[in-house]
Amino acid sequence: MTDSIKTEKNSRGPFFDTHAHYNDSAFDDDRDEMINACREAGMAGAVNCGTDVRTSLECIALAEKYDFLYAAAGIHPEEALSYTPGEIDKIRELLKHPKVVAVGETGLDYYYEDGAPKEIQKENFIANIRLAKETAKPVIVHDREAHADTLEILKQEKVPAGGAVFHCYSGSAETAREIISHGWFFSFGGALTFKNARRALEAAAVIPMELLMLETDCPYMAPVPMRGKRNTSANIPFVAEKLAEIKGLGVDRVFEATTANALLFFKIK
Ligand code: NI
Repeated sequence: MTDSIKTEKNSRGPFFDTHAHYNDSAFDDDRDEMINACREAGMAGAVNCGTDVRTSLECIALAEKYDFLYAAAGIHPEEALSYTPGEIDKIRELLKHPKVVAVGETGLDYYYEDGAPKEIQKENFIANIRLAKETAKPVIVHDREAHADTLEILKQEKVPAGGAVFHCYSGSAETAREIISHGWFFSFGGALTFKNARRALEAAAVIPMELLMLETDCPYMAPVPMRGKRNTSANIPFVAEKLAEIKGLGVDRVFEATTANALLFFKIK
């Protein structure tokens, strides 16, 4: 374990963080300092994901400030009650911005008992997917305890290969196989390093390298040994080390492959 931590500290990328929230208030005191520190630590780029119109605009502002930051615009399932065709029209406008590379994050979240009703979440998810198809951008999918419905909607909406990523993938290896058969992507973050990550490890093992990307979901989901602290992209090497171990590859190969996949997925030149 000590050896592996030593290696982790030496791994510096470059890596691409496909799912971050640097607009979050957790970064209000030191946002610029932190973004620059992550850049120093090997972050080649990152996509900040909106959760509604307001936060999507915040992500775009960051993308305008830093050439290596990109944005996604969309309506998160936890914000599904704010979904209206009018809000979708506003997101459609934001998607015209040259640094908005995806729709998201959106999807289904059945974890909270007091969350938005399933029917409203589904309606919101479908509207976001249709925007993604209309603008030929990929969709960033948040699927929490809603694997069957999420898959069904993606299939029903005929999302093309390369058109979706399951962020912080938490399903089984069996579900992963179905997602693979559609050519959709997966991204893994800190949860892969948690003690109870058996299912995620099994899933990661069956996913081909060509469909894998790295993420933080920062400020949330800090990997072991930083668990519980505020997460940043500088912690991505801990996740890359875990993925390298699962795949039996060197960590540099994991950085290289996941970065190339991210650039391809988001059509970043
Ligand atoms: Ni997120």
